[in-house]
Amino acid sequence: MRIDGEAFTTIWPGADGTSINIIDQTRLPHRFEIVSIADVAGAARAIKDMQVRGAPLIGVMAAYGLALAMRADPSDDNLRRASATLAATRPTAVNQQWAIAAMTRLLTPLPPPARFKAAFDRAGEIARDDVALCEAIGVHGLSLIDAIAARKPSGAAVNILTHCNAGWLATVDWGTATAPIYKAHDAGLNVHVFVDETRPRNQGAALTAFELGQHGVPHTVIADNAGGHLMQHGEIDLVIVGTDRTTASGDVCNKIGTYLKALAAFDNGVPFYVAAPSPSIDFSILDGRREIPIEIRSAAEVTHISGLGADGEVATVRLTPKGSAALNPAFDVTPARLVTGLITERGVIAADRAALAKAFPERISLRG
Ligand code: MRU
Repeated sequence: MRIDGEAFTTIWPGADGTSINIIDQTRLPHRFEIVSIADVAGAARAIKDMQVRGAPLIGVMAAYGLALAMRADPSDDNLRRASATLAATRPTAVNQQWAIAAMTRLLTPLPPPARFKAAFDRAGEIARDDVALCEAIGVHGLSLIDAIAARKPSGAAVNILTHCNAGWLATVDWGTATAPIYKAHDAGLNVHVFVDETRPRNQGAALTAFELGQHGVPHTVIADNAGGHLMQHGEIDLVIVGTDRTTASGDVCNKIGTYLKALAAFDNGVPFYVAAPSPSIDFSILDGRREIPIEIRSAAEVTHISGLGADGEVATVRLTPKGSAALNPAFDVTPARLVTGLITERGVIAADRAALAKAFPERISLRG
């Protein structure tokens, strides 16, 4: 995708061949800064502080983090230590566990001197695969948008609601929930996106609005609470969101507030789709509400908010009275029964155990 006309991915190897560059997402949309990551501690910090975020991108960063660890010290001990450090960064998305497991399977049998190059190459492959998975989701999701457009008066906009940022900034490129939108827009379909602001960190207002704007996709930012009202009034044709972890039975864990959107969509007969690349599916669990660890983030994300001041500087201000407690669960679980379908790289499937097992038989036998 492009920023001010220049093609970017969210993560790429540095010219020195030993470091990794990322776009610092804590600075968007008001500042564009590239940060270089040189070691596993930097990779872990970038994930924890959300300079990189979004389940697929966290997975890719973790893979590169292990490669950086292998450059410093390719021993078994360090492989274990680095894996534990990266796994502990954020608990909810399954992607870094998936990436760490894939890297460990590759690296463990190799002699230590061969590990850095193998790890760096494999991390690059995981990044390239992520682009391909997202693009395939785009192709499958496009047919859903196409079908809705065909039922509307000729040329009328298809209105899509999305929550958080499951866009290209959350992946390496394309995004998951946004890939069908970009495909539809590029194919000349009239698509318009309602972007949930996504309190408390405002990934919708800051990141999704930014990337849709950069690509020229018409969009409107709404307060999180507006979605139900718009659905009741026929203003939303479909919802597409991403996922941090989807269970083998189709329960979907995603950014806090997703569940409320699914309830409103269900009540109003609005199709609710989840863009789910296979590394975001956890085939080892069935019950999302009981088995997925929900990250509790700092209360300061609720009590304070940042934005661009009239002086052109980014400032953080307090919203709440000093004495008020605040709680900040970062994700929630939408039960499979509220999900119209999963848009995977292998097609649009039902959010249930049988459909997931049929689409990904090799993952069922691996149980992971
Ligand atoms: O806390 P974040 O910003 O990492 O949360 C991101 C989301 O919840 C996304 O919807 C999800 O990771 C899917 S990204 C393609």
